[in-house]
Formats: sequence, structure tokens, C-alpha cells
Amino acid sequence: MAHRIAVIAGDGIGTEVMPEGIRALEAAAKRFNIDLEFTTFEFGSCDYYLEHGQMMPDDWFEQLKDFDALFYGAVGWPEKVPDHISLWGSLLQFRRRFDQYINLRPCKLMPGIQSPLAGRKPGDIDFYVVRENTEGEYSSIGGKMFEGTEREIVIQETVMSRTGVDRVLKYAFDLAQTRPRKKLTSATKSNGISITMPYWDERVLEMAKQYPDISVDKFHIDILTANFVLHPDWFDVVVGSNLFGDILSDLGPACTGTIGIAPSANINPEGKFPSLFEPVHGSAPDIAGKGIANPIGQIWSGAMMLEHLGYKEAADAMVTAIENVLSEGDSQVVTRDVGGQGTTESLGRAIADTIAK
Ligand code: NAD
Ligand code: IPM
Ligand code: MN
Repeated sequence: MAHRIAVIAGDGIGTEVMPEGIRALEAAAKRFNIDLEFTTFEFGSCDYYLEHGQMMPDDWFEQLKDFDALFYGAVGWPEKVPDHISLWGSLLQFRRRFDQYINLRPCKLMPGIQSPLAGRKPGDIDFYVVRENTEGEYSSIGGKMFEGTEREIVIQETVMSRTGVDRVLKYAFDLAQTRPRKKLTSATKSNGISITMPYWDERVLEMAKQYPDISVDKFHIDILTANFVLHPDWFDVVVGSNLFGDILSDLGPACTGTIGIAPSANINPEGKFPSLFEPVHGSAPDIAGKGIANPIGQIWSGAMMLEHLGYKEAADAMVTAIENVLSEGDSQVVTRDVGGQGTTESLGRAIADTIAK
């Protein structure tokens, strides 16, 4: 039976990397005999907003809920629509309404890519950021008071529910258990944020009791960011709240040379709702329209989607193809962010051809 994939390219380079993501998936589907059926949606983009006054139709949930997965590009074009409106009207709705409470973001230094950190080689940086994806600092509880006066106040609450914290911690501990180093690092800030973050620490300690084989440490987010740069080899599975996970999952890939290759899986582990796969990066207005965006974040996200759908071998073949093309390092093929002069399409085609072999 066909796996039904909803495709939303979004804005900017989202529309440029998406065709390469699909090209790679089609190559993998052909080679491994997987039946994928793509359905494209125009909503979830700023152009849709300009035409309709909202990011998505009222029945978006009904339209998407029975798909097996969502494949997203990137959304946001601040000159057209303020970011908080475009993002809260699309991506953040998917994460919440489809209860995609895990945001899994691998971070790996690939062969052929120069890390900006001196002396780092492939193997030195290879960890996962597990980001809480439905609550935390990204809450809609709060408001404005005394607007327009000198007493103006804005408040936005952080929400940590026991269910919400425990389920992301459990996922992260389970993931650590599958890894040779069996190590989990918790991102906290319990010295300064005195209610929610000590609670987070408490839940980590409680969860750790069920995983005696996992070695657990924690860092406050300030020094943790420093350690990502100074000692990226320390990390294996890093778990953090929504905001901390967001920050770490741009910093980690930057340490591996470019955020253009970083993938993510927004997962509803129970499979009650579709999960969503998208690159970590955004719509990159500064390079949009030039055909030079790195498509690997999108392609690797496609690999994560195949793995989620049960095709581990095909997913591995996609990642291996990415590694092989990068290690060949043909400067006419690879994109500028990794030191070449190639285009989105040249890199995408090279990867798809390698998958097909
Ligand atoms: P961004 O990730 O779009 O770009 C940051 C920098 O990285 C830019 O210099 C860009 O050129 C570069 N870059 C990003 N992806 C690249 C790729 N594939 N290849 C080569 N270079 C790449 O972040 P931003 O500039 O903060 O945000 C731009 C817009 O995207 C905003 O509207 C923002 O809200 C939105 N955004 C969306 C998502 C998402 O859809 N998941 C994620 C992040 C930002
Ligand atoms: C990401 C993005 C989003 C986030 C933005 C665009 C709302 O930065 O997916 O990392 O903060 O989650
Ligand atoms: Mn981000």
C-alpha cells in the first residue's frame, strides 16, 4: 500500500530544496521498492497568507491528519508576513495539534566538510539534540497589559507539565540506550530560572533511576553552548526544553560546518497523528532565488521520514549517499556553504544518482 506524504514547500529556499528532497526519496523508493505517494499543498506559506489572510485553511487539520507523514520545506518571509504570525499559523500549529512532542535533530560532522572548529574530524562530532517540541517557553499563555502606556507589561509563561517533560526525557533516555556511549546530557538553567528549570532537573534525576546504565550529566545552557564549541566530542544525546533545544540545534550543526545539512524529525511517537520532517534551517531570504541552497538538510530529513515509516535500510542508503557525495567533494557539485560552486540541483542530482546505484 502506498505511503501518503503531504508536501508543503513553504517559502524561500524551502521551495528550492523540496524538489531535491523528493528526487532523493523517489530514487530510494525505486531502489528499495517503496510505494510513496506525494500530495502537494500550497498552504503553509507566506504567499498563501497574502492571498487568503491566513496561513492555512480552517480545515487544515482534517486535510492533513490522515497522511502518513508531512514533508515540510521552510516557512517565513518577514518582509511579507511577521514571523510570529507565519510560524504560529503553520509549523507551530502542526507540532502542537499533531502532538509532535519530540524534535529529533542529529548533528554529525560529515566527511569532506570542514568544521569551523580547528582540528575536528568526522567522528569527533556525532550527537543528537532531542528537543521538547510542544510546550516549555513556546507557550501561548500570557498577554499585554496597559498597552501604549508607560506601565506597559508583556508576559509569556513557560509551561512544563509532568507528562510533557517526562515523555521527552523518556525518549531521550531510550535513544541514549541505543547508542554505544550511552550518555545523556541535560540542558538546564536551574541556577537562574528558579521554578521550571529545577523542576526539569528533578524529572531528569527521577527518570535516570530507570536507566542505571546511562551516564547522565547536566550543564547550564550558557556553559553548554561554550562546551558545544570547545568539546563537541563530549556529547552523545543532549536533551533540552523547547527553546534550549532550538538554540542548540542551530549551534550543533554550525559546529559541523553548515546548518544547510541539518535535518529534523518532529515526531508523534504513538503514531496517532502524522509526524513532520523538515530541515532545521529556515527560508534563508538572503540566498533565496539563487539556486545555491544546500539541499542536504531536506534530503536527510527525507531519510528520517523513511526510517520513521519503517524503511531503515533505505534511510541508511540515503545517508550513505550524502556522505559519499560529500567525501568526493567535487567543487562543481557541492554548494557554496560547504566550499563549492555547485547548485541546489547539482548537489541534489548527485545524491539521487548515488542513491539509485
Ligand atoms: P535561516 O536558517 O533561514 O538562515 C540563516 C543563515 O543560514 C542564512 O545566512 C542562510 O543563507 C543560511 N542557510 C540556511 N539554510 C541554508 C542552506 N540550506 N544552504 C545554505 N545556506 C543556508 O534563518 P533566519 O535567517 O533566522 O530565518 C529566515 C526565515 O526563516 C525567518 O522567517 C524565520 O522565521 C524562518 N525560519 C523557519 C524555519 C522553519 O521553517 N523550520 C526555521 C528557521 C527559521
Ligand atoms: C526551528 C525554527 C522554529 C522554532 C521557528 C521558525 C519558529 O527555528 O524549527 O528550529 O523556533 O522552532
Ligand atoms: Mn530553530
